[in-house]
Amino acid sequence: MSGLLITFEGIEGCGKSTQIERLAKQLPKVGRQVVTLREPGGTPIGEAIREVVKHPPGDATISPDAELLLMNASRAQLVQEAIRPALAKGAVVLCDRFYDSSLAYQGFGRELDMAKVQQAIDLAVGDTKPNLTLLLDIPLSVSQDRVSARHELTAELQDQFDESGANFFKRVLDGFHTLAKAEPDRFQIINGDQSLNNVTEEIWGSIQSHL
Ligand SMILES: Nc1ncnc2c1ncn2[C@@H]1O[C@H](COP(=O)(O)OP(=O)(O)OP(=O)(O)O)[C@@H](O)[C@H]1O
Ligand SMILES: [Mg+2]
Repeated sequence: MSGLLITFEGIEGCGKSTQIERLAKQLPKVGRQVVTLREPGGTPIGEAIREVVKHPPGDATISPDAELLLMNASRAQLVQEAIRPALAKGAVVLCDRFYDSSLAYQGFGRELDMAKVQQAIDLAVGDTKPNLTLLLDIPLSVSQDRVSARHELTAELQDQFDESGANFFKRVLDGFHTLAKAEPDRFQIINGDQSLNNVTEEIWGSIQSHL
């Protein structure tokens, strides 16, 4: 059986982690081996990078270029150490964010030069591209409600939800839509603003032809 790389994308709280957990339980029942990974992270080196990116030491602020490179350093390690070996074994790899997040956040969100973002991605992933990318689509207001309810409204997120932040998140969300439109064969847009079970069903439906 050939391996399959499915990536989950979308803004904070759209349901990526929840749905990956559900899918990871379902796939073995139809005889598929599953590997779940996340970005940044997914390997010991990647998780160390995640810590630096999410909790910079002291009150240090990470520069946009450094953030881009760290994300892609984590990604390069993930591709080599985890994704390629899992695909070679025929597993279904479920990845919680992948390079579309760099395009959406660093490119569209922080407005870095797209060519530069793409260059960093190319270096990190080579020819390892997702077979299918599920964009869990929710409005910004739902994102804010879910993140607040999770009691994880960090100072950074709080910032992002006020004025300039709202613009940032809008650019990210619009960016995801632009990416999906540009590659309709790879992307599947899933309505994330419905019951958990309905989202799971929609996802299950859209992966069938790939299994
Ligand atoms: N369809 C849904 N309906 C209602 N609540 C949901 C739905 N999907 C997820 N949630 C809730 O929203 C919160 C965020 O979900 P989850 O952690 O899966 O999102 P995420 O996309 O992984 O977010 P992040 O990008 O921040 O990691 C959780 O508390 C989850 O239970
Ligand atoms: Mg998550």
